[in-house]
Amino acid sequence: MKISQSTRNELGMPLVGFGTYQLSTEQAETCVCDALNAGFRHIDSAEGYNNEEGTGRGIKAAGVSRDELFVTTKVFPGYKPWGSNEKSYEDTIETLKRQLTQLQLDYVDLYMIHAPFSELRLEQWRACIELKKLGLTKHIGVANYNSMRIQEILDADLDIPEANQIEFHPLCAQVELTRFMARHSIAPIAYSSLAPLSTWRVEEGQGGDVLAEIKQEAQTVIKDIATKLSVAEAKVLLRWGMQHGYCVLTKSSKPERIRENLNIFDFEISTNDMERLDKLNQNQAIAWAANGLNPMEVAAPL
Ligand SMILES: NC(=O)c1ccc[n+]([C@@H]2O[C@H](COP(=O)([O-])OP(=O)(O)OC[C@H]3O[C@@H](n4cnc5c(N)ncnc54)[C@H](OP(=O)(O)O)[C@@H]3O)[C@@H](O)[C@H]2O)c1
Repeated sequence: MKISQSTRNELGMPLVGFGTYQLSTEQAETCVCDALNAGFRHIDSAEGYNNEEGTGRGIKAAGVSRDELFVTTKVFPGYKPWGSNEKSYEDTIETLKRQLTQLQLDYVDLYMIHAPFSELRLEQWRACIELKKLGLTKHIGVANYNSMRIQEILDADLDIPEANQIEFHPLCAQVELTRFMARHSIAPIAYSSLAPLSTWRVEEGQGGDVLAEIKQEAQTVIKDIATKLSVAEAKVLLRWGMQHGYCVLTKSSKPERIRENLNIFDFEISTNDMERLDKLNQNQAIAWAANGLNPMEVAAPL
């Protein structure tokens, strides 16, 4: 089946989104505007990226109608080991209001808790439910939640998250969690799809060198499939995520890559090659490794 470029998931979220992590405020402004001009209609932001003013200016400069856009952002929950205060119910409400001012928007399309780090996570989730009622976000979700953390919300008899944004690529294939989310109709969103590549986060201080040695076998397989399909290796990884039913996010600071990464709708990875990529799984999270943690495994007990 060919997937059309306009295809969105059940939340109305375009299947390919532009990520804004590790962009300065100035880069966020330029790159978000470039991404929207290239045809992206889904922008992923976060309080913790410290660049939402730039993202807001980029959105405004591109002049795309608000109805066409799908903007997601996240509240940083607080994390004691980093000296970051855990957010209360009221803090969570106030955080989105402040983010909306920076983004120059009246509402976002999806608001997520960035990670289950805080003992106050159910209180933060109750605040997300209220933010949806207030119309400040159309949908609410979580990020970096494993099935136990989602189950806590179900056990508390609260509205179930509509989406879960997680690290997802052939080295970190999240097989059980993906099934759990499907059973509960939680939309899957993939981040760091390009982590297996040697070009991922290579600039000074971006942390791409951590765990670089585990990627070599994957890189050979990805290259082989990319050559066979005559597409860039990055596109193979994004397409792999999409063929697994995920919305995929991709960040670049380079205009030509921004344009290239959106264009994953005119080829298909064969069943055989999907299986070769699936077999590379090592259940190895990479994206947060430079910070010395796996965000799915550090939740404090309730
Ligand atoms: N919820 C979470 O905890 C979480 C965690 C991580 C990420 N995210 C979200 O997901 C987004 C994507 O993840 P990510 O930032 O790890 O980005 P990614 O898209 O997986 O990879 C970006 C890296 O790959 C390079 N790159 C981009 N396009 C390329 C191409 N066509 N060929 C070769 N290299 C390419 C980029 O370099 P250049 O910039 O130099 O092009 C950058 O170093 C983030 O921006 C963020 O919005 C969420």
